Amino acid sequence: MILLGVETSCDETAAAVVKNGRQILSSEIGTQFDLHRPYSGVVPELASRAHVQLINPVISRALKKARIKPEQLDGIAVTVGPGLVGCLLVGKMTAESLGWVYDVPVYGANHIEGHLLSPILSDPSVQPPFLGLVVSGGHSELIYVRRWGQYELLGRTRDDAAGEAFDKVAKMMNLGYPGGPIVDRLASGRDSSKVVFPRAWLHGTWDFSFSGLKTAVLYKLRTKRSWSKSEIADICAGFQLAVVDVLVTKTMAAAKALKVKTIVIGGGVAANSLLRKQFVGRCADENRTLLMAPRELCTDNAAMVAAAVYFKKQYQKKSSNFSLLIQPQLHIPFSKKSIPVFL
Ligand code: KG4
Ligand code: ZN
Repeated sequence: MILLGVETSCDETAAAVVKNGRQILSSEIGTQFDLHRPYSGVVPELASRAHVQLINPVISRALKKARIKPEQLDGIAVTVGPGLVGCLLVGKMTAESLGWVYDVPVYGANHIEGHLLSPILSDPSVQPPFLGLVVSGGHSELIYVRRWGQYELLGRTRDDAAGEAFDKVAKMMNLGYPGGPIVDRLASGRDSSKVVFPRAWLHGTWDFSFSGLKTAVLYKLRTKRSWSKSEIADICAGFQLAVVDVLVTKTMAAAKALKVKTIVIGGGVAANSLLRKQFVGRCADENRTLLMAPRELCTDNAAMVAAAVYFKKQYQKKSSNFSLLIQPQLHIPFSKKSIPVFL
């Protein structure tokens, strides 16, 4: 089955052609970073206008690279939520128009499900049950996948998402946008014990909280008029360790409590060097199987969207369940609200 994935939920215009849910024939991204950089964050109206300009060339490139004609497609998978509504609409209208012109079915995909399943694109062996951690610019969620398509929410951020905290802290230090990769680079090789920030453990829940940490960085920055490059790098290292420490500790504790052997990590923050290193080390120590997408599949892409629809089609036969309704604020559809096992 050959699917064209289309992703326009935020600031990346992406299209990909994926065969049988795992074989990426092409994956194209039209990035908008330069457009949003002056604002140190995504401006929704600018993002949707840029999607309108980028979407056709990006889709054409993806089809050309995959050597696939639109009429050869078995379906088009398009992100319908969560995301910025104007942005989602561009992807949805384009996918529906293509589907109508070439008589190809169009399936709505959940962006978080895409991030959650993205590591599976590179590892065919994974099977549920597994514990998923999705950490991106808009989401930080710990999800127990008991069976394909059955998602149980363990915990989520109560305020800022992990990536959002990276971006906002970078903005405070005028480091640029998006902040995550910049903080990651500056923190590399630094002594993270020089500047220590608090961790919000939220004992008794699997939830996360990062806004207090962000405020702690702000207060730290206010203690002096100017900071040297080296001091800024130490702040980055201390902040990054505080985020990663909480994410890794709580995820490993949840895996232990639920007796789950496999941990799957997706979303933009999963590209973080320290997070990857710590998960590799902890999973090796505790003999757990770790699945992380390659870095280019951690941040927004359309291959994960096509994969999410492919897997959904495997476990969910009724195509009527692929809603094309735009869902701007919704999370992944959880089958249960929470699981009563806590730290
Ligand atoms: O998944 P994604 O591309 O978009 C959303 O769905 O939000 O994630 C983007 C987020 C941004 O906040 C970005 O700063 C963060 O992922 N990010 C990183 C790294 N690369 C991207 N955060 C920390 N370290 C990185 N290397
Ligand atoms: Zn995303």
